[in-house]
Amino acid sequence: MSDPARFLNAFAQALAAMALYRDGHPARERAVDVAYQQIHDLQSDTSHPLFTFLGDEVVFGQQPLRELKAWDWGKRLAQAGIQRLEFEAHVSRDDFEGFLEEVLARLTLSAISTEARQMRRSSIRFGAVGLKGESEIAPESLQTATITFSLGEEVDTLGWLQREVQTTGAVPLAEAEAVVRSLAVAMHSGRQVMLPLLQLKEFDQYTTTHSMNVAVLSMAFAEFLGLSATDVRTFGIAGLLHDIGKVKIPLDVLTKPGRLTDEERAMMNEHPVAGARMLLEGEADLDLAVVVAYEHHIMINGGGYPVLHYARDCHHASKLVHVCDVYDALRTRRPYREAWSFDKTLGYLQERSGLEFDSALCDAFVRMMRQWEPQVAIVSDPAAQARPA
Ligand SMILES: [Fe+2]
Ligand SMILES: [Fe+2]
Repeated sequence: MSDPARFLNAFAQALAAMALYRDGHPARERAVDVAYQQIHDLQSDTSHPLFTFLGDEVVFGQQPLRELKAWDWGKRLAQAGIQRLEFEAHVSRDDFEGFLEEVLARLTLSAISTEARQMRRSSIRFGAVGLKGESEIAPESLQTATITFSLGEEVDTLGWLQREVQTTGAVPLAEAEAVVRSLAVAMHSGRQVMLPLLQLKEFDQYTTTHSMNVAVLSMAFAEFLGLSATDVRTFGIAGLLHDIGKVKIPLDVLTKPGRLTDEERAMMNEHPVAGARMLLEGEADLDLAVVVAYEHHIMINGGGYPVLHYARDCHHASKLVHVCDVYDALRTRRPYREAWSFDKTLGYLQERSGLEFDSALCDAFVRMMRQWEPQVAIVSDPAAQARPA
């Protein structure tokens, strides 16, 4: 077998091992090591290896790799939007593993979104059911191995997930995890930390984009506080699902531009309890998300809702998500007010520190945002490019 083919096999084995084993597992480390060694060997002949995946065909440089005819990863990569891999002259082991993680996140999410889309289509009795496939791959629009995160798939998947919860009452955990994994990778894409805050114009998408933003902010914040990668993702899931109870609120109440009546307000304030109940009834693995859904509107001074029968301290995760939740809500334009500026929002958080928010967490959040402000990008819609906040 030629070197490029040997590398691609090791590359695929590493992806498979990473999908199976957690960070630090020996089988995973070994598979990454082997693939890394292979790219290293390949680079002794070709300093900038370039692979192109075109449906069934895998091309190395200009040359089709015929020995990989039965290798189905090329197709999977192309379908996930990765049609081209190009390596720099010196790839470090860390960069290489980070790159593998990006590819894996892309593959996982793309498989799920395709499935979700097909499921949606299956209720329609006419029209073609197609996979995202070769027809979309025009040679002139080849993408590079630098994966760009437009977050369109993530928004789609989360929107689908919310409709699923609404109709079936169960939370599809695998999809929630895939979105969070992909957001975690997006957060680390590029050299700088980027918070892909989304602001969609369509108001009914508010809860979807708000949930993604709160997930990303919560993960960034948890990481800033030094939590482990696993905890960071658990916080991400809790952030992603904190408002899931809102699927029970009629859309006209949820999107009402004016003041809510007492009855509507009561309906709105039900969402933490409704959300916690939904998460509790579903998969067993969502303990932290249940607590956060229930507690994220409870203030440190006992205000907010739901009103606890006995005053007690909320979970650390709830306090953390609470700050991120309010930050994102204020930074977003709503039908009844404009989006607040960065400084005004941080000023508000500080004013309410010790009353609504845990003061230590509030201070840390403000520090984090000030530190990252130059790197924070707001994506005005999934298709648009990032621009500075
Ligand atoms: Fe909420
Ligand atoms: Fe919220």
